[in-house]
Amino acid sequence: MTRIHLSSPDVSALEEEYVVEAIRSGWVAPHGPQVDRLEAEVAARVGVGHGVALSSGTAALHLALVSWGIGPGDFIPTSTMTFAASANAITYTGATPVFVDSDPYTGNIDVALLDRAITELTSEGKSVPAILPIDLMGKCADYTGIAEIARRHGVKVLSDAAESFGASHRGTSAGAFGDAAVVSFNGNKIMTTSSGGMLLTDDAALADHVRFLSTQAREPEVHYEHKEVGYNYRMSNVLAALGLAQLSRLDEMIGRRRSHRETYAEVIGSTSGVSIFGRPGDDDDNCWLTVILVDEPQAGWGVDELRASLERDDIESRPLWKPMHLQPVYSDRPSFVTGASESLFLHGLALPSGSALTHDEVARVTESIRAFLG
Ligand SMILES: Cc1ncc(COP(=O)(O)O)c(C=O)c1O
Repeated sequence: MTRIHLSSPDVSALEEEYVVEAIRSGWVAPHGPQVDRLEAEVAARVGVGHGVALSSGTAALHLALVSWGIGPGDFIPTSTMTFAASANAITYTGATPVFVDSDPYTGNIDVALLDRAITELTSEGKSVPAILPIDLMGKCADYTGIAEIARRHGVKVLSDAAESFGASHRGTSAGAFGDAAVVSFNGNKIMTTSSGGMLLTDDAALADHVRFLSTQAREPEVHYEHKEVGYNYRMSNVLAALGLAQLSRLDEMIGRRRSHRETYAEVIGSTSGVSIFGRPGDDDDNCWLTVILVDEPQAGWGVDELRASLERDDIESRPLWKPMHLQPVYSDRPSFVTGASESLFLHGLALPSGSALTHDEVARVTESIRAFLG
């Protein structure tokens, strides 16, 4: 019996064909027609003017902040409920991440608390040039509320849409919010370039500067001339070819993840004390990972017991992100906390959700859950 993973890459013969074609064409360097095409196609899908293909989503976050001149002495409010990459990118610049707790229903940043955080920081004389909201588990943050707060406080918005490519909020695509946004094409994401990411923006000057910084900030001279510190963060053309094939299958892949969620909802939706995180009303979600929330006293069991039981059947499941304000590396940074994210961390469990999962594999997961529930 093979192990069932949470979200494995979904790669078909089409990806193989595109990658071989890129190699045979001789474009194996970090420049090439596939990089240009991937940038244009992702930007068009999201509905923004420019895309810059980079080696990772983390690189894209980092360069947007660098390009905005963010550095030591700046405070950047961000979601506490997330993967460490966003806080790390802020930290690379020398700025301080400020962790803001979650809306209990979506797990995304609590906008009233975000407003309070900016007000308090600025009243203490701290510099808050930007905020970095994050879309959790494929569901967009409340960008309507965020845009109003950002406008009122005069701060830039960098939207971390690493997990939400393909989702939308009130008809606008994830990746189109804020002054700039970032998507990730890491191996576990909704589509992958094995490792990769993209900066998305309507700001042509920002896109040009990030592209320049990502290729070692080399000035347009015959010899090597540098006036700024550069980075080696550009996406390779071969990986962009993989991305183009994935992009052509994106809707089909989202559809498969949605169908897995429906199956889980049928099997456990009526179990006492158990709910599917983010439902109902999750149809603007890309269904990246399906998470269940367990009310332990009502269910009579906890997520750790289910996780251990699935593990015995060689099925991977995982708690929701441990909030950043609880991480040893970031516990001394400022935070605005209500307890909502900690509760989600303690009671949420992500189930295998990848679009490469076969019907039989999903059936194996649901049988294992049924056996656990007795
Ligand atoms: C919310 C979030 N931000 C940023 C990243 C970083 O993306 P990458 O792995 O492409 O650097 C990830 C995932 O990996 C993520 O989940």
